Amino acid sequence: MINILKQEFNKIFKKDALGVYFAPGRINLIGEHTDYNGGYVFPYALSIGTYALVSKRDDFVVRMYSMNFENEGINSFELSTDKPLADNWCKYPLAVINTLKDHGYNVNTGFDVLYYGEIPNGAGLSSSASIEVVTANMLRNIGGFGYTDKDMALMCQEAENVYAGVNCGIMDQFAIALGKKEHAIFLDTKTLEYEYAPLKLAGLKIVIMNTNKKRKLGESKYNERRCECENALESLKKILDVKCLCDVSVEEFEANKQLIEDDNARKRAKHVIYENARTKEAFVALCNNDFEKFGSLMNASHTSLKEDYEVTGIELDTLVAKANKCKGVIGARMTGAGFGGCAFAIVKEAFVDEFIEKVGNEYKNTIGYEATYICL
Ligand code: GLA
Repeated sequence: MINILKQEFNKIFKKDALGVYFAPGRINLIGEHTDYNGGYVFPYALSIGTYALVSKRDDFVVRMYSMNFENEGINSFELSTDKPLADNWCKYPLAVINTLKDHGYNVNTGFDVLYYGEIPNGAGLSSSASIEVVTANMLRNIGGFGYTDKDMALMCQEAENVYAGVNCGIMDQFAIALGKKEHAIFLDTKTLEYEYAPLKLAGLKIVIMNTNKKRKLGESKYNERRCECENALESLKKILDVKCLCDVSVEEFEANKQLIEDDNARKRAKHVIYENARTKEAFVALCNNDFEKFGSLMNASHTSLKEDYEVTGIELDTLVAKANKCKGVIGARMTGAGFGGCAFAIVKEAFVDEFIEKVGNEYKNTIGYEATYICL
């Protein structure tokens, strides 16, 4: 693969690439919509991701090319321009350059970069966080900057919030910057303390199911959920001494939920608080290789995202409902922000082919187009 990318770099920029960088995509095993509520998340870095091949220049020009958007050709930017912006895919790497600048890491060497992304765009597998992190890592090397992986995750989140216009939490950038092969990362988004948990999938497969639904309203609905959580928190604060929703225990919530007058805000808070508790249980279950427990927590998470958080939709629900009727399935749920994107199931290896066929047929019949599958 890397040789093909090097040849492509040579073809496009008429010189050799001097560095090759990679950042993965991610799925979140459980802990959905908890990261902007100070809770736990449990993401897992994928083996597929984004490659960046780079070569320095001796001027202040940055040239970017993506093999995923070949017909856009080479995009050129001047580093001397205060904060270069773009309205195509280049907005993500440019957002990183601008954020680094804001933190005093002045990118003042021009470079040519070729990107190749293996993660389908807009599928909720964090293709944007992946291109951000691969860019920050590449720039750390070519600029000789001393930021840590944790700093890199935080700056990439800021890049997305400030320059790419999505008010996301820290999960994706953190999972990608600090992800470790064959390990999930149990992250406390309040303190940024984390622990790795080995994912020993002996005899089991993770099957990612991409709805292939184009997300349109996703970003605005995401921000709407954030506001609803803030409203619920304000109501609970009248009695409870808490800073974020995930400071509230399940028992405290049940005893005080009537304080939240708005029905929707109460449902959103319920999801977040119970999901946080499920995530802690899921970490323990995975450490004990208790996949049965893990699977039941996955199913409960999906139901809560469907009924209380209301971010699933017919595409994700069809995949998950059918998955749960198939033989050899341990659990299934949506992953990421929702509103389309991907779900995943944990399936006994011997049943994977049958699973994909059955879920595939049901999805096509109900939704009218195909879902696509990635087996890990
Ligand atoms: C998106 C965001 C994350 C997180 C998830 C939902 O992936 O980027 O920060 O909020 O949605 O869990």
